[in-house]
Amino acid sequence: MQKILALNLKTYQTQAKDIEKVIKKIAALQTGSKALSIVCPPMPMVSLAGKLLPRKKLLALGAQDVFVGEAGAFTGTSSAALLKDLKVQYVIVGHSERRAAGETDADVNKKIRTVLSNGMTPIVCVGELERDASHRYLHTFTDQVIATFAGLKEFEIQSCIIAYEPIWAIGAKAKRSATPDEAVEMALFISKVLHEQCGVKNHQSVQVLYGGSVNGSNAEDFLASDHVHGLLVGRASIDPQQLPGLFAAFK
Ligand code: PGA
Repeated sequence: MQKILALNLKTYQTQAKDIEKVIKKIAALQTGSKALSIVCPPMPMVSLAGKLLPRKKLLALGAQDVFVGEAGAFTGTSSAALLKDLKVQYVIVGHSERRAAGETDADVNKKIRTVLSNGMTPIVCVGELERDASHRYLHTFTDQVIATFAGLKEFEIQSCIIAYEPIWAIGAKAKRSATPDEAVEMALFISKVLHEQCGVKNHQSVQVLYGGSVNGSNAEDFLASDHVHGLLVGRASIDPQQLPGLFAAFK
């Protein structure tokens, strides 16, 4: 299965020229890499990124979010149709930072439908807030997965990329990343939930990425298992010291 390196540039950089520089660096590093690299710039930079990224099979443009509905009087949102017109192929939906701002499982579900119906691929983020010794988090996690994919047809779920992103492992405040074993366990767990609760027969074909404090030094460890199909990276995406290690991990 094609391994994926999804780079979420978030809102770290505030100067367009700095974002341009990172995008160019990513495009240069991607040459010779076996990964499918997906660059998700801040929304105001999507159009320019679409022009800066060379057209290549293994280099794609992504967006960090999308409006839940179609076009219309929705101030401050970005429609899926416009993103598609700007050459976006992948859209992150349900990122924990959007969920923390009030996005519900039902919103994420609608966004998945909107992205799919506009011919793009959703990268659907799921993950627990924290873990407890008695593994109760697995129940809430299961509920989240079920609600996120509720009512979607099997082929629609199979068209999604899922990113397992434990919230406790994301961002500068994270104490640690998940371990590669934890990432594999949860990738398998997601596959099991899709099979048993969401009716996905061919659940092994759904791609599951890991995200949360991935950097140039630990990336390779997560890719050692065939059950982890790639990485969703935040902070390290804009760090010129970390980027070469990220790409090198996809041998
Ligand atoms: P991080 O973020 O790599 O900075 O932990 C990952 C993410 O939020 O997708």
